Amino acid sequence: MKINVDVLVLGSGIAGLSFALKASEHGRVALVTKKSDTESNTNYAQGGIATVTAQDDSYDLHIRDTHVAGAWLCHEDSVEILVKEGPERVRELIDLGVRFSKETTVDGNVCLALGREGGHSRRRILHAADLTGREIERALVANCKHKDSIRIFEHHMAIDLISDGRTCHGAHVLDSDTGDVTTIAAKVTMLATGGAGRVYLHTTNPDIATGDGVAMAYRAGAKIANMEFIQFHPTSLHHPGARSFLISEAVRGEGGILRLKDGSTFMERYHEMECLAPRDIVARAIDAELKKSGDECVYLDVTHLDAEELKARFPNIYEKCLSVGIDITKEWIPIVPAAHYSCGGVVTDVDARTDLDRLYACGEVACTGVHGANRLASNSLLEAVVFAHRAAIDAGKLLATSNPTRAVDEYQETEHNEPVSPKLVEELTESVRSVMWKYVGIVRTDERLNTALAEVREILQAAEEMYSRGRLSAPLLELRNIAQTGGLIILSALARKESRGLNYNLDHPNIDDKLCKKDTVLVGGGVTGAGFLKHEGHEEARNTRKTGAITE
Ligand code: FAD
Ligand code: SIN
Repeated sequence: MKINVDVLVLGSGIAGLSFALKASEHGRVALVTKKSDTESNTNYAQGGIATVTAQDDSYDLHIRDTHVAGAWLCHEDSVEILVKEGPERVRELIDLGVRFSKETTVDGNVCLALGREGGHSRRRILHAADLTGREIERALVANCKHKDSIRIFEHHMAIDLISDGRTCHGAHVLDSDTGDVTTIAAKVTMLATGGAGRVYLHTTNPDIATGDGVAMAYRAGAKIANMEFIQFHPTSLHHPGARSFLISEAVRGEGGILRLKDGSTFMERYHEMECLAPRDIVARAIDAELKKSGDECVYLDVTHLDAEELKARFPNIYEKCLSVGIDITKEWIPIVPAAHYSCGGVVTDVDARTDLDRLYACGEVACTGVHGANRLASNSLLEAVVFAHRAAIDAGKLLATSNPTRAVDEYQETEHNEPVSPKLVEELTESVRSVMWKYVGIVRTDERLNTALAEVREILQAAEEMYSRGRLSAPLLELRNIAQTGGLIILSALARKESRGLNYNLDHPNIDDKLCKKDTVLVGGGVTGAGFLKHEGHEEARNTRKTGAITE
């Protein structure tokens, strides 16, 4: 089957939904999402959305905090746009019906409640208790459903972009329920497929986060940058009954203290901001303490905080912990770091344009340059709305002058007819995730990275072979994407010969500003992109854009 639209949006998280809403003013939109419409990383966001609203805050402070957290690799222009355009975009979210938490000040005024997280020098995080993402997702999905010009395709998974290596003309999409493939030809395509946490064995991310967008863009010939900077969140709940559950950094923002088993604190030995140091530092400190002690976890202690206030501020965390037998008002919370966020992604300019004509990327899948070597907490939701807005303006102009949708060939489904063992697909997927966790985690070495590359490359090759002949299924496509994205993370980590931000390599323990203060860029497969990892086929640490001219 083939359909033509003006705009194709892949993904229904905050980036895809925000863009779809605005792009629908310019034409017919197909919004494709691989599970139900709300299922996304966005839906699980807890801490909130960072933006300057307080009297004691300023753009300069937010900009500086972002650069410090990003280890001076952030792009100056993108950060300035993020911070200065942020307040207006957050106001639009409120106008769309997002209900952020409020509080009453001492003089009786009701105002937005502001939380604090690691790396922030001020309270500036708007939140909806600890369910911020769910509230944003609810409001955006409801608004999209009211638009006649938006058609939502749930349980449809993009297989690949339609690209001639220069221009994107839409995507081929698998209906996961029927197994049918639809070719969607579009004048404009927005890649908003989110992150890649599930490339790792332990992650805070839901099942959807399999790096599909980065893998598809790479195969289509787009540039991918900074994939070595995978952010590990320091505080994921360590309990057999709770899979992938995050304990928000906002808990430390309200006074939560990290402790070792014997009750002693340790963050003062690692950073002057202690438990509220930037995330890479806290995660590495916990990793070091666990390696030293051999313990399975460290603890987050909130028992000294007011119990009723805790339950009101963090109802979701309180309930979830209680459901596995931990009353956080009385007991310490066992926590470990877990893969959380991909700071790199598909290279875009400040209007979310990728290197392929007519292909935009936005949200976690994109590398706009705002996060540098480590994302500042709660800057991700903000990045998505700010750059979705800019993309919609740019796409509007393009659509106003655009030729009719180009004729594209339908997907060759008949070639995919061999049976594929679901068990084998699952085993290979788990192998990639284990390898990535074991060898490409918080602390890396060149030898471990090379071991991982050899293993992942072999699995990717097997996945490509299964894909080229086998019957299509969502798990098979995800295996292919997880292996591809895992490989790109390893190649990028091998290319960065320094330890900066989230890339910590014992063989290159220092920051090397002279040689390495630039993005790591990998160039995708182009017209014939077979999807294999080509070691020679990437440009190492090439500077594409102006980075961190602000100095320490
Ligand atoms: P997502 O919200 O992940 O949406 C991606 C969409 O693409 C999904 O609908 C998915 O189904 C779809 N998709 C993926 N692949 C395909 C495909 N092949 N075909 C079709 N559809 C596809 N950030 C903050 O700023 N503040 C926070 O408080 C915060 N808390 C977080 C808490 C948790 C537990 C997690 C996991 C992340 C948190 N983050 C937070 C990060 C933030 O939530 C994400 O970076 C952000 O929501 C990403 O939005 P997105 O729209 O880019 O992607
Ligand atoms: C959290 O609530 O700790 C997550 C915030 C983020 O990832 O920005």
